[in-house]
Amino acid sequence: MTIREPVCGELVCLCPLRVGAAGEWVRWMQDPDTTRFLYAPGERPREPFTLTVALDWGRRILADPHRLVFAITERTTGKTVGDARLVPGGRRRARFSIVIGERSARGRGLGREATALVCAYGFGQLDLEQIDLEVDPRNQPAVRAYMRVGFERTGRRTMRLTRRRFEQAPAAA
Ligand SMILES: CC(C)(COP(=O)(O)OP(=O)(O)OC[C@H]1O[C@@H](n2cnc3c(N)ncnc32)[C@H](O)[C@@H]1OP(=O)(O)O)[C@@H](O)C(=O)NCCC(=O)NCCS
Repeated sequence: MTIREPVCGELVCLCPLRVGAAGEWVRWMQDPDTTRFLYAPGERPREPFTLTVALDWGRRILADPHRLVFAITERTTGKTVGDARLVPGGRRRARFSIVIGERSARGRGLGREATALVCAYGFGQLDLEQIDLEVDPRNQPAVRAYMRVGFERTGRRTMRLTRRRFEQAPAAA
């Protein structure tokens, strides 16, 4: 499923995901900088991410009542630059993931703000208590963005944010 109404920060809005953007998703995934650290060891898909695969992924996630997906648009241009997901992982817990797929949109604070907005949505609207994620420790932009939002390391490749910690983190303001 996706959200109904946009949720905006200063730089980005979380918007409903539309499968009409599937062509963009394919283009993003053809950029090695998008996919370099995206998959856990042994989880890199064998099949190429074609338009058919992208459409299938989009339709399945929109029809899934448990997984919540957000499109990320840049506020100044309205352009879709990525997406993020919250997948339930136990009682009042969810797993977060994000892709800023548009190369020109990376490294300008959009990923950090989108992460903060999704976490705020998870704690505020979904009443989550904890959000976990997996990250390659070499993925410095990701690790730094997550730390700014308040995530703490729980293992070499895992980080966690609790509602209390998020409310205390300066980036959540
Ligand atoms: C990871 C990702 C979401 C980060 O979003 P972003 O918009 O590029 O990052 P931001 O501009 O918000 O920057 C976040 C932090 O990383 C730093 N940073 C940005 N680009 C960097 C780079 N190339 N090298 C090192 N640090 C970098 C920023 O300075 C900032 O740190 P600071 O707040 O301590 O100054 C985005 O780059 C992305 O989607 N990458 C491809 C897919 C991916 O790796 N997803 C995450 C899988 S866990």
